[in-house]
Amino acid sequence: MASFITFEGIEGCGKTTQLKLLAGLLEKHGHQVVTTREPGGCPIADKVRTILLDAENRAMVPLAELLLYAAARAQHVAEIVRPALTAGKIVLCDRFTDATMAYQGFGRGLDPETIATLNRLAIGQLWPELTILLDCPVEIGLSRAIARIDNSQGAREERFELEARQFHQRVRDGYLQLAAQEPARFVRIDGGQDVQQVASAISSAVLARIGQGNR
Ligand code: TMP
Repeated sequence: MASFITFEGIEGCGKTTQLKLLAGLLEKHGHQVVTTREPGGCPIADKVRTILLDAENRAMVPLAELLLYAAARAQHVAEIVRPALTAGKIVLCDRFTDATMAYQGFGRGLDPETIATLNRLAIGQLWPELTILLDCPVEIGLSRAIARIDNSQGAREERFELEARQFHQRVRDGYLQLAAQEPARFVRIDGGQDVQQVASAISSAVLARIGQGNR
């Protein structure tokens, strides 16, 4: 049965690890699962991701950033998310429209109406049914994210990790506000717990929504 589930949270909240664990569990339950992420998820959107996250692009103005997220999203929804859902698959997406509201809206201070309009335009009514918000204190998230940068030898993607602590606090508070506004869609889980505890909280929430599987 098709289902669209998104994962959200500040840097270092653990959502990427948890998304993979959930995908494995759902597959064991007989579901067909597509895992993807934003910004990115398909070749054109991945190119936009490279521009967005490049630490050298400090001069990028907030409006240009917002429009690039929207452009990447339109391509990703058309190429990956919509076809997978049409084919009856479960789509697990690492960040989606709420990230734009949290980062560009609450974080950068851009107009929420403009963001909502662009989100609608980019996704064409394809809203997630369930959003897992992995919430954790900024200090914990950022220390994990910075450790990851220090250990990585790949492409430099740290533009957002290097933002001021207050920026990340606004993003976290923004996510909590979004979750409070839509309690039926959001499930808030404490991302400061250990990996197995978080995984089991997520699997209970998701299996309760989508049932135990197709087998
Ligand atoms: P990631 O680190 O989870 O892959 O996300 C990449 C960065 O992009 C992260 O710092 C959050 C940021 N982002 C936004 O600012 N707005 C958005 O709409 C999305 C999808 C991500």
